[in-house]
Formats: sequence, C-alpha cells, structure tokens
Amino acid sequence: MQFKVTKSSTITAELTVPGDKSISHRALMLGALTNGTCVITNFLEGEDCLSTMEAMRKLGVQIEHPEPGTVVVHGCRGKFTAPESDLDCGNSGTTVRLLSGILAAQPFQTRMVGDASLSQRPMRRVIQPLTEMGARLTAQGERDTLPLLIDGGPLTGIRYEMPHASAQVKSAILLAGLFASGKTTVVEPAPSRDHTERMLEYFLVRTTREGNEISIQGGQTLESRDFKVPGDISSAAFWLVAAAAQPGSSLLIDNVGLNPTRNGILGVLLRMGARLREVVSVVDEGELSGTIEINGAKLTGTVIEGEEIPNVIDEIPIIAIAAALAEGKTTIRGAKELRVKETDRIAAIAKNLKAMGVEVVEFDDGMEITGTRKLRGAKLESFGDHRIAMAFAIAGLFAEGETIIENVECVATSYPTFEETLRLVRSGKAIRRKPATERGTVGASVQRNRNPASE
Ligand code: S3P
Repeated sequence: MQFKVTKSSTITAELTVPGDKSISHRALMLGALTNGTCVITNFLEGEDCLSTMEAMRKLGVQIEHPEPGTVVVHGCRGKFTAPESDLDCGNSGTTVRLLSGILAAQPFQTRMVGDASLSQRPMRRVIQPLTEMGARLTAQGERDTLPLLIDGGPLTGIRYEMPHASAQVKSAILLAGLFASGKTTVVEPAPSRDHTERMLEYFLVRTTREGNEISIQGGQTLESRDFKVPGDISSAAFWLVAAAAQPGSSLLIDNVGLNPTRNGILGVLLRMGARLREVVSVVDEGELSGTIEINGAKLTGTVIEGEEIPNVIDEIPIIAIAAALAEGKTTIRGAKELRVKETDRIAAIAKNLKAMGVEVVEFDDGMEITGTRKLRGAKLESFGDHRIAMAFAIAGLFAEGETIIENVECVATSYPTFEETLRLVRSGKAIRRKPATERGTVGASVQRNRNPASE
C-alpha cells in the first residue's frame, strides 16, 4: 500500500484523534490486574494495542470487545494462567517491555515473540532490572533481542537507576514491583511519560515520587474502575504541524491528552513561532485532556535536546518536517534512542528529507536540519515505521509534485484512520464547528493559555 500526496492549500479543520496508544496498552494490562470489571472507552483499535489484547487473553484474561472503541476487561487480580503458545507482540515494544514486568512475577514460563522490526530491538534494558528482582529472562535472539523467554517467580524489591530515560522500562519495573516483596524504586535520569504512575493511582495503588525517584510498595491490589482513554497527542502532532507550518491555516483538536510528560511538541512549536492555545478542560481519571487550537505562521528553527527529548521522542519525525519547513536551522541532540525505535528514525528521516531536497546533517544522537520552504515531491520508504510514513505524508502536503510513500500498512499500528482523516483535511470536510456556546464547555475547569492564537 502507498500514500500518494500532492500539495495542499491552507487547512481549516476541527478534529478528534483516536485514543492514546500508550494509555490503551496500560488500560488493558492494569485492568487485568484489578479485582473486578473495567469498561474502557475510546480504546485505540490500533494493531499494537490489539497485540496486547491478544496476549492478555492468552494469559487467561476475559476481555470483551462489544463495539469499536469499547473494551470490557475482567480483572483477575494479576493471577494469570500459563499461555499455551508464544505471546505474539507484533510490532509493539510497549507490549513486550511492560508485559515482561508482569510476567516476571508469574509462576510459569512465557515466551514473547514479535515481527522483524521488534525482533531487532534491545531487551537488555528490561532483562537487567527484572533479573535483579529475581526472575529469569533469556533473550534467545542475537544481541539481547526477541524471542524473550521469561521464567517468573517470587520477586524482591530493588532500587534501580535507569541508564536512560524510558517509560517502558520504568513501567516494567513498577509493575514487577507491585508483585515484589518490599519497596521497589526506579530512578530516572530525566522525566519520561508517567501514564503508569497516574493509572496506578487511579486504580488506587499508591506510588510515591521524590525528585527523580518513583517508588511502589509490593502487595497492593488495584480497585476496578471504568476508564476513558484521551485522544493521542502523538497522532494529533501530524495535524498540528500540517496547520502550524502553513500561514492561513487554522485547526482545532479536542479531547486530546495534554499530560505534561507528553505535550513537549507544543513547547517546541511555540518556540518555532507557532500560534497555539492549549486548554485543559478535563482533569480526570488521572490524566489531563482538552483542546489545542493552532493557526499557521512562519516557523523558525530551534534547538531540541536534554530533558525535552523523552517528552517529544515519538514526535521527532513530524518535528523534523516542521524543521524542514522553517526558516533557519533546527538542531536535535541527545536523541540516540531514535536509532532503536520501530526503525532507525535518525537515518530514515535524514534519507527521506534529503530525497525531498532538504539539507540534513546526521549525528550519532540527532540531526541538524536546514529549513527550506521548497520541498520536492519524491518516492519515499516508510521503513515499516508508522510515524515515518505519516510524517512524510504531511511533508507531501507542502511539496511540489507528487510524494509517494511506500509500504504504509504500518500506519495501522497506531492510527488506522490516518488516511481517511488526511482525505477529509485536504478536502476541507474535517469541519464540525458547533456554535461557540456549545464549545464553551472548554475552560470549565483549568485553562492554560500557552500563547493566545490571536492575530
Ligand atoms: C512508550 C514509551 C516510549 C515511546 C513508545 C511508547 C510507552 O518508549 O517511544 O512509543 O508507552 O511507555 P521508551 O520508553 O522506550 O522511551
């Protein structure tokens, strides 16, 4: 499958985006750890989350899927049954790494496998701490890669200093910590997304944070509750950049997650000169969500590095497109993790941007992009990476001639309706403007004006 995209004029759109991928995975796993029934709504029907759902079912969890976006998880207090065959995690790093924390505590053996991309991704990062806690984990692939064999058993709490900021690793350790004796503490070198901590709190399990240390006491039970997943800001990011980089465009996205450990892209776009407003209207179920309004402007280059990187790690492909369309240079450093995502994202971005006529200098841990308003349409690879495919589809909206992106099936891992939304946005049909009074519910609670998008 291909995307074929041609240049678009300004965008005027009002959208919602599908449920958050990170949160949908956690809703399934944490729901299964509870003591009762949890109805999860706005669940992301992406392939990655469906891999988690299948894995949980194989572990004996009863899960109903009565209609798209609604999932009913019957919690079993974390008492799973041994699966009859391998757990296939597909393309999903979150499935393998978070589940490994839970499986480390189960009194049976499991083996996790994945697709070609996932089978190349590093697993030492979870093997190390979970082994220290008392489980036996064996990576059967070369260089600590899948298949991952886990012989679970009784665990002991540890204090673990993570070598790099990773929400997946932090979450695996905290989930194992729930089953461990005593206290488990994770020290993170920089803040990473905190959905696991927030969701544990929501299910009435206490975690404590002191500076960069997060601790959990073993032996707590999660109380079942229903859960609504907010829209995924990582999916919203594609439309945010499509509008931000085109003077005259205007976009409103509502019901989108605005968790402060995930909304770094808004700060980046603001520094680049975007005119945007972020309004938090819901502080519920442990997560923040609301509306983002953005108006197109001339963007300028910026620097993205240090502690900001984990907050924008999944948005770097689309931020690179914003950089390519901005005036001046944008530098991204300290982002070596991009080399071990669904593909080597630094190499993939550099290759595709160069094919579109953009000057890019590649570093081991990032890149420098020199902006140009003149992107050239080209035939590009997705490298089997959903975010590369979508980012370059947006680039195609700004390019002369036709942009073709090959092998875009991967988009279904996180945003199955992306192509349909792209069509609606292009045709000006993504408008569902309600009267201002109806929209007036925003701001009912917290309002945070990042930069009023006034002329
Ligand atoms: C995720 C954490 C991030 C992110 C990934 C989802 C999560 O990975 O890139 O897409 O749901 O916890 P790392 O924790 O490896 O940085």
